[in-house]
Amino acid sequence: MKADKRPIVVYGGSFDPPHRGHMALAAAALRQLGPARLYFVPGFRTPFKDFRPLSFSERSRMLKAAIAGSALAGRPEVKISGFEAGLRRVVYTWETVAHFRRRHPGAPLYFLMGSDCLEGFRRWRRWRSVLKDAKLLAGLRPGYSLKGGSGVPFTALAGRFPEAASSDLRGRLFLGEEPAQLQPEVLAAIRSQGAYLYKERAALKKLISPGRYAHSVATARLAMELAPALGIPVQKAAAAGLAHDCARDLGAAGLRRYARSRRLKAPLLARMYKEAPLLLHAWAGAALAREKLGLRDAEIAEAVRLHATGAPGMATLARLLYLSDLACEGRDFKEAALIRELAGHDFDAAFRAANYVKLTHAFSGGGWVHPLSAELWNSLQEKKNG
Ligand SMILES: [Fe+2]
Ligand SMILES: [Fe+2]
Repeated sequence: MKADKRPIVVYGGSFDPPHRGHMALAAAALRQLGPARLYFVPGFRTPFKDFRPLSFSERSRMLKAAIAGSALAGRPEVKISGFEAGLRRVVYTWETVAHFRRRHPGAPLYFLMGSDCLEGFRRWRRWRSVLKDAKLLAGLRPGYSLKGGSGVPFTALAGRFPEAASSDLRGRLFLGEEPAQLQPEVLAAIRSQGAYLYKERAALKKLISPGRYAHSVATARLAMELAPALGIPVQKAAAAGLAHDCARDLGAAGLRRYARSRRLKAPLLARMYKEAPLLLHAWAGAALAREKLGLRDAEIAEAVRLHATGAPGMATLARLLYLSDLACEGRDFKEAALIRELAGHDFDAAFRAANYVKLTHAFSGGGWVHPLSAELWNSLQEKKNG
């Protein structure tokens, strides 16, 4: 039998989620090269960088849905490869290319990527080895010229391929949006898998009013915007923001009942029962988020517990949630927009301002103020003076 000399195309990426841009690039490669095989190779997602990354099988299901809804549907040469995901570690492109080189000896091998990746190609580990085994195949973004890519040789695909960054799409999905860059088939797969916090949001909607839900989304949105600069995974910020008021609509009586039945522990619990039962929603919320939303992360629990009062020594995620809850879009006091603005370039100053605003509101409203709020205030003054 004569060896198949048709090319092999390898398309690596996170595909988290797969979008129309990915499918357009792959379809162009099929048209232009007529390969014997086109492999999508979803990479391993590191649990340290991502909060609860989607597994290979979850991403494969989305990829199958994307393929089924695109020009690639029914093409037997299109495959999904578990090579990178199966190694359960970050896999470098040179390893992936070497793997397919061994698998298809003699066939011209192409590694498919977006033209934006060409820029940094020479910083990739063992990039010369990639070029020895394969040719680079790239789709150009609108306005991007053939001369780009810092001189790295590559084959250009005919056509222009608008960019859609998976990280932006993930952010929008966390907030419950359905970006047009995702095919209906992919959105259906996301819903059926409960991915990108879909499951958590569905459970949350059963616990709180639509108005409260909108506030929770606004809180999540601000927390997500500020998260990267604080070194917090965006999904974790989103989950904390969505969940923080999940117990708020239980009301005073319901909160007392819930706190009793779950034997909640909180500083000055008896005083809260009597003087400010609604404050219980923070401690109850942490328990309810675990129980009903399935959020088991200890940092999220702490953030939800402390979002109303604050406390000295709060962790970064807790500080982020405290500020985002106070200053998110939809807050009608004038300081909210100022704190939002300030948080983007001086988070610590914005956090102190948030604490100040919260305390002045609490005092001007009259009634009992939880000592934790004042203790947070004092701890921030010590820091400033110390
Ligand atoms: Fe709250
Ligand atoms: Fe809130």
